[in-house]
Amino acid sequence: MATDPDTSSTTSRILGPILFLDDVRDAALHLSALVFVTDTTNPDPLICGEGRYPFVEIAADAGWRVLRARFEAAMSAPVTYSVLGQSHTIRTGYDGDLNIAFASCNGEENGDLDRDPDERNAMWARLRDDHRNNPFHLLLHGGDQIYADEVTLGHPLSEDWPESVPKDPERADLRELRAHLRRGFFERYMKFFDTCPAFMELAASVPSLCQWDDHDICDGWGSLPRSRTYSPVGQTLYEVAREATLIFQHACTLDDMPGRFHDKTGLSLGWWIDLPDLRLVAPDLRGERTRRQVMGDVGWAMMEAVAALPPTRQILFISSVPLLGPRLSVLEAAMVVTPKMQEYEDDLRDQWQSRAHRTEWRRMLQLLTDIAVDTGARITAVSGEIHLAARATMPLGGQDTLHQLIASGVAHRPPPQAWAKVLGSLAAFGEGPLDGAPITIERLPGQSGRYVAERNTLAITRTDDAWHAVWDLEDSGKTEPLALAGQ
Ligand SMILES: [Fe+2]
Repeated sequence: MATDPDTSSTTSRILGPILFLDDVRDAALHLSALVFVTDTTNPDPLICGEGRYPFVEIAADAGWRVLRARFEAAMSAPVTYSVLGQSHTIRTGYDGDLNIAFASCNGEENGDLDRDPDERNAMWARLRDDHRNNPFHLLLHGGDQIYADEVTLGHPLSEDWPESVPKDPERADLRELRAHLRRGFFERYMKFFDTCPAFMELAASVPSLCQWDDHDICDGWGSLPRSRTYSPVGQTLYEVAREATLIFQHACTLDDMPGRFHDKTGLSLGWWIDLPDLRLVAPDLRGERTRRQVMGDVGWAMMEAVAALPPTRQILFISSVPLLGPRLSVLEAAMVVTPKMQEYEDDLRDQWQSRAHRTEWRRMLQLLTDIAVDTGARITAVSGEIHLAARATMPLGGQDTLHQLIASGVAHRPPPQAWAKVLGSLAAFGEGPLDGAPITIERLPGQSGRYVAERNTLAITRTDDAWHAVWDLEDSGKTEPLALAGQ
């Protein structure tokens, strides 16, 4: 039974490990393992092959200390390491067939901490079972790894966030707010780790790679008015959220970010990793977001750097909000004249398809098209965010097709069927931000509607040179494999 680390002085708790893929260089994997302890002792060093890798404390709050060991391993053969008296095997072999899991939207805006863990984490248990049958090589987290919305409650400076915020709070009060928020973030991450053994089993042997979305900070971060975002309270919230994201989603702090990040100062948390014939690219769509831009100079500099990299065969483009979707301008126009719908306006602002982001959206689609045409790389975008399962396609230059796979959420329950139908009917309007490259909202294999209102996760596989995707839908079960590219 779980004990509260704040009140228990006699019972020590220990959780972990959670693995992260820091970087791949010179055919070597650079990994981090996180463990969490409630007392002052340090675990024995992690052992991998001949190496012993000590744990160092990288953060502490809410009664927990966060300890990390960084270690290296070969990329081709399976890797066994041991920590906390147990050994775990990582299915590496990244130069052969691949089985990659994708999950997003791990929580809900309200009352997430009070949900029955069995209900909340049912899809994690299924993913864990799949892993036992056919181990995953990687676990991609596509955004909203936690729902932090409620951390602003309980402190006078942020109680009414984002509706109203104090203009010029005292520095001492801000410092107190920072401590309040930090404890709230720590509690949220630790509660998930502590109540989801299925995730912990997966995370001990499958390296995670994460990219954040708004709820890792707060609902609609970046699409809120400047008066909120740039207020002292807003900036404090962002800084604490980023610190927590770096610790719990990337096993690092601002001064020791892993090699895969483009910007080591943390202004933008975009990264890419090269595996044999596979490039994972995850731009940060939140760190520099404003109501007028999705990415800033740093994010775009990373995308230009990615475009200049040596060719690869397949790119998995992790876009926390879907890169391809239906035309939303109809809906946006309706909202402007319908007061009751204006609360959803920020949600639409979050989308690439928002009128406010159209120029930037076209730039991104053109950049990916150029990569495909110039290098022959095939590109698949994977996204979460909308709490539905869906997919779309867009021609990429000559014969290639950009596939968009949407899997969301792993824990967030779906919206009403009616909303899925509204989105499905919007698909009829079509959308073509680039000339001669219409976006088509397609159906998942075996589904009659275009948007599936069920919780879901995704597995993306490479067999020889052929790529497939399989959604696991909570009620409908697994889809037939969808062929993405190759034979
Ligand atoms: Fe979400």
